[in-house]
Amino acid sequence: MGKTYKIAVMPGDGTGPEVVEEGVKVLEAAAGKFDFTLDFTEFDYGGDRYLSTGEVLPENAVSELSKHDAIFLGAIGHPDVKPGILEKGILLSLRFALDQYVNLRPVILYPNVETPLKDKGPEDIDFVVVRENTEGLYAGAGGVLKKGTLDEVAVQESINTRKGVERCIRFAFEYARKRNKRKQVTLCGKTNVLTFAFDLWERAFYEVAKEYPDIKTDYAHVDATCMWMVKNPEWFDVIVTDNMFGDIITDLGAMIQGGMGIAAGGNINPDGVSMFEPIGGSAPKYTGKNIINPLAAIGAAQMMMDYLGEPEAAVAIENAIRYVVADKLESLSAGKMGYGTAEVGDLVASAV
Ligand code: IPM
Ligand code: MN
Repeated sequence: MGKTYKIAVMPGDGTGPEVVEEGVKVLEAAAGKFDFTLDFTEFDYGGDRYLSTGEVLPENAVSELSKHDAIFLGAIGHPDVKPGILEKGILLSLRFALDQYVNLRPVILYPNVETPLKDKGPEDIDFVVVRENTEGLYAGAGGVLKKGTLDEVAVQESINTRKGVERCIRFAFEYARKRNKRKQVTLCGKTNVLTFAFDLWERAFYEVAKEYPDIKTDYAHVDATCMWMVKNPEWFDVIVTDNMFGDIITDLGAMIQGGMGIAAGGNINPDGVSMFEPIGGSAPKYTGKNIINPLAAIGAAQMMMDYLGEPEAAVAIENAIRYVVADKLESLSAGKMGYGTAEVGDLVASAV
């Protein structure tokens, strides 16, 4: 008899519940095939709960979620709630409270998927972004003075700790070794302007690099990183960067791999509870129409199985995604797949 994993499921807002349902379907198929058990517990954290209770997260949310082996999240963001409340109150709060210090975002172009990059194919677009996930501009440091007056001052500071930066960089080097592809880590920064923060990053980067003589190092400013991601994506293997830059370049990454419909990520605490999510938002305009692409959520489920130590299940899910994308779907865009959300889930589940 295989292991049992306790999974906290947070469908969240908008299309979150629809895509999570397909992820769970595929996970069940993998569990049946590879002889492990998934024990799902659903949590209703999100916009609707906030609108009815006035509470973003209940007091015991972190302790309840911590009792699980992993968290599977749909999407956070509700059209009737002012931007920022749910994002900060739920998503960022959990990333911070659970110390999920890496946001791991693969950028992989699967065969037969259209990329906006001319003359680039799957052999060129296969890298992963290791985004620092608990510090930087996201830490919430700063404040406002004289709000609403002509003398208003707003300060938003980027927090970079040696410990936070170093553990993220070390994760990136370990990941490059484990990936065993080009064996290269690129630091994406802005050492020419952000001379305090990225000086720390740069020193930590080259010090950690000494422990990994088998891994090549490279550096690119964030603006140039955007340029190379479009012009020469094949140069990248693992990119490590701070929270804000990582947020920005992974949206670009999602586009070159075929769109938000396929972009998955994991908020990782290697010593704690990690949270896996499709990186696109709650897509209110597609909600409830059975047209949203569930593959990003299914990809997040795949990353979760890998992280939980079921690599065979992860590979089976990845192969099933590849097969469905290459042989079945007309497009990865919502409403243009040639199938509904639930049918895409069925196709992947039966391929597993
Ligand atoms: C992401 C999202 C979040 C972020 C938002 C919703 C707070 O854009 O996961 O990339 O900025 O991290
Ligand atoms: Mn983002």
